[in-house]
Amino acid sequence: MRPLRLLAAMGLAVLGISSAWAQPVLVAADMRQQQSLDGPWHWSIDPYRDGLAGFHGEPPNARTNRAADVIAADVMQAKPRTFFEQDMQLSPVVSLPGSWIGHSPEMRLYQGLVWYQREFPATAPKPGTRVFLRIGAAEYRSYVYLNGKPLGEHRGGYTPFAFEVTKLLRPGRNQITIGVDSVRTANDVPPPVTDWETYGGITRSITLVTVPDTYVDDAFVRLTPDGSHIAVSVKLEGPKAANTALKFRIPTLGATLDGKTDDAGKWEATLPVPRNLVRWSPENPKLYDISIDAGADHFADRMGFRTIAVKGTDILLNGKPIFLRGISMHEEELGANPVRAMTPAAARALLSEIKYGLHGNFVRLAHYPHSELTTRLADEMGLLVWSEIPLYWLVNWNNPDTLADARRILAENIRRDRNRSSIVLWSVANETPTNDARNAFLRTMIGDVRSLDSSRLVTAALLSGREGNKIMKIDDPLAADLDVMAINTYNGWYTDDALEDLASQEWRGPANKPLIFSEFGADARAGYHDPVASPHKYSEEYQAAYYRATLAMAAKVPFLRGMSPWILKDFRSPRRQHPLYQQGWNRKGLISETGEHKLAFDVLASDYAKREAADSAKR
Ligand code: GCU
Repeated sequence: MRPLRLLAAMGLAVLGISSAWAQPVLVAADMRQQQSLDGPWHWSIDPYRDGLAGFHGEPPNARTNRAADVIAADVMQAKPRTFFEQDMQLSPVVSLPGSWIGHSPEMRLYQGLVWYQREFPATAPKPGTRVFLRIGAAEYRSYVYLNGKPLGEHRGGYTPFAFEVTKLLRPGRNQITIGVDSVRTANDVPPPVTDWETYGGITRSITLVTVPDTYVDDAFVRLTPDGSHIAVSVKLEGPKAANTALKFRIPTLGATLDGKTDDAGKWEATLPVPRNLVRWSPENPKLYDISIDAGADHFADRMGFRTIAVKGTDILLNGKPIFLRGISMHEEELGANPVRAMTPAAARALLSEIKYGLHGNFVRLAHYPHSELTTRLADEMGLLVWSEIPLYWLVNWNNPDTLADARRILAENIRRDRNRSSIVLWSVANETPTNDARNAFLRTMIGDVRSLDSSRLVTAALLSGREGNKIMKIDDPLAADLDVMAINTYNGWYTDDALEDLASQEWRGPANKPLIFSEFGADARAGYHDPVASPHKYSEEYQAAYYRATLAMAAKVPFLRGMSPWILKDFRSPRRQHPLYQQGWNRKGLISETGEHKLAFDVLASDYAKREAADSAKR
């Protein structure tokens, strides 16, 4: 482990928390006063990373240092013998957020470092306030500078990070420079090989967030497991964090709770559930405005209240058994050339296909934390969410730096989203090999989930074993540590099973625990039809037959309590290069990249419509 990080981690570990909390949380930052820095940015590629180091590894010289607080053209004009080998202010301009694969055709397959820079006007922060620069997500390593000063770095492509800039902002022209390096190593989370497009670059909003000197940095509000109380946990940051009076409110319910932080700036309290509180559910996604007043800070958020639990093989939402009628989804907008620039309209288009097209009540946001736009929309529309971090396939389970990064990314995800009532499952892994190092690593992750959020369920997408063609076995040792087991099964696609044999396959797993089929699917190129008795793989008819056969198999699994088939929409994957059927896309979508419904869409939709009708008859 790098020495500086070791010291930081040891210091924080003594407090019983991972190094995740070296960064400000700025929970519900999207609800605070913000100055958007989205829009036009200059960009400059730096494949050999000259902007980070000279050719002997020394600090970059003035010629290549993209973050220097200078107007390069003015300097060259004034000093004839001075020259630069880059000029951010003269570099081309693109609109952020959005991956660089959309900047120009040649950036389609670029993996490396790209520099972004823009200027923005600022005034000196008002007395008694602080300003943070927040980046919603950047894939994969970020190096952030303001007015030539380094603010810090971040690793991880899917969680927000922030740096305080209060003392560095200056009245008038300010210059922000961000270097983003998409190259991942075998020690990263995820490692280099995944089945989705990297989408290097800055993919979520960049904002300046203003808060009072002492502010609510972290807050977690939820129903207690028995549903009798609302639990409130608050962490203040700032000079007056300790021993400060606070007031929690739900104005429309007339609920208030007064309290005071301890010496560490923390407050934990509960209040009896207001009689007129309406529980959140997919059928009635009731949201409430809440507020926390602490000193000069008026913290606001908008959330639902519900309970989620397991009892034997049942998943209970608000105390009642529920079947999760879902589908998996990558963070990739509809259209022929997505750049991973999720907008409210783009997220709504996708979630509406699930909620209204498929009669779904559940979405697996694979394989990494999605935009907060999407999780907030799931709250609003009434979709239950599986949220996961990208511990995917061949992670370096033996590397302590990898574990530290995974723990930080998990904490960043949970602390960002644990007030989203739609999220009911935190998943710690996808299709990882079963060995002792992986089991120990993932058990640490499961422990972190439980200490960060004991109100939700823990799961992981596992692989299954089989005995011949009839018996499927859930024999992953990690299943014992999960609240809900989840299996990715592709019998009849990646195996030679005849589709007519699937319905007679029997699933055996640890007794008394619910199961979700977290993936099953088949590729189909939209428009390729093969209307014969035995259609060929890649045809829409085969995909539809595969869904009918797999749903027939699923209907017979007595402890199955949910499905999130793979996947809503065809998505970009460099691993999928069949020139006729894939062309760089994974085509297991029920809709094409442009939203064209394939035959299998209606097969799943009618299964879910029947389940929905049966469930509403029981209510
Ligand atoms: C795996 C994996 C997915 C992948 C899918 C596929 O289960 O979890 O990320 O895209 O299978 O092969 O299409």
